[in-house]
Amino acid sequence: MKDQLISAFQARYDADPTIIIRAPGRVNIIGEHTDYNDGFVLPMAINRAVWIALRPRKDATVTIYSVNYDSEDSFDLNNIEHTDAGWIEYAKGMSWALLEAGYSLSGWEGVLAGDVPGGAGLSSSAALEMAIGRAFEAVAGETWDGTKLALLGQTTENDWMGANTGIMDQMISANGQQDHALFIDCRSLDAELVPLPAGSCIVVMDTSTRHSHVDGEYNERRAQCEAAAAAFEVKALRDVSVADFNAKSAILEALTRQRARHVVTENERTLAAANAMKAGDVATLGKLMNASHVSMRDDFEISSTALDKMVEIAQAQPNCYGARMTGGGFAGCAVALVDVDAAESFVAAVAPAYEAATGLTPALYVCDATDGARAVDA
Ligand code: GLA
Repeated sequence: MKDQLISAFQARYDADPTIIIRAPGRVNIIGEHTDYNDGFVLPMAINRAVWIALRPRKDATVTIYSVNYDSEDSFDLNNIEHTDAGWIEYAKGMSWALLEAGYSLSGWEGVLAGDVPGGAGLSSSAALEMAIGRAFEAVAGETWDGTKLALLGQTTENDWMGANTGIMDQMISANGQQDHALFIDCRSLDAELVPLPAGSCIVVMDTSTRHSHVDGEYNERRAQCEAAAAAFEVKALRDVSVADFNAKSAILEALTRQRARHVVTENERTLAAANAMKAGDVATLGKLMNASHVSMRDDFEISSTALDKMVEIAQAQPNCYGARMTGGGFAGCAVALVDVDAAESFVAAVAPAYEAATGLTPALYVCDATDGARAVDA
């Protein structure tokens, strides 16, 4: 990816780039739709990323050529205007959020490329936001805090793109670390690195399905969670324990109760999963992932036929400790925890079985946990 990017830069500018940025996508191991409920998440940054090769400019113009879209766009930092939605809007939105927060930015030009599939639940947009943030940081020759950049990425999603998403994706893309998952408290934003259990690996399983109306479903789930928190008279569902929920859930109407039960139990599972990871207890971690899938499928209702089928096939494999859908839901990817020595045979068995069952060709990636967004050596 990096070599392809550098060649594209050289072809365009007849010079070498002076700065190269890599910002990873992520897979969430457990803790789904908990971030905007002030709860807990356990994602890891993966070896699929957004890359930018660039050089500073002397003016306030940002010009970016996207290899993936074969298109160039540019904007003026003194006058950032919202136009049609598209990849450049994430760059504009992040620039706007940084400026609003008081960062001083100067222009650059470069080439953008990535291998995080879009709309698959692997956070290609958060990766792009963090890549843009780190590009400006490198041009400024300064060191900026990852969590602050993550919050500005969320501002970009919420206020520039109009997607009411939480903080998980940007936090992990900014702050991930090699060989570790990140246990994040989405209220305090305290984050703790947790090593991946020895002997296991994470396999991302892309169903090759995409959903086009995710925003509406996402915002509806969010509103249902807020309604449940209001009924419990707490700030967020984070403040409701499973015991509290069981004692008082009759105050909620049936659908809201179902949605809240997912979040309340998922928070408890995510805490337990972080402890299981610290103890190297893959069997418990896998069981928690399986339970998470059931909760998302039946209570939060964000799975799909394709995701359920992928998860069912994965769970049936020997040496698979657990599997669940991951990310916002409705389509995209599932994630499995697999014995590292069985990774290849797992992929070789799951892919054809899924294709035979659905007629869809999946993509399976055995993932490494990688570092968060940063400038890398050219
Ligand atoms: C999307 C959002 C995140 C989070 C997940 C669900 O990825 O961007 O903030 O809410 O869905 O866990």
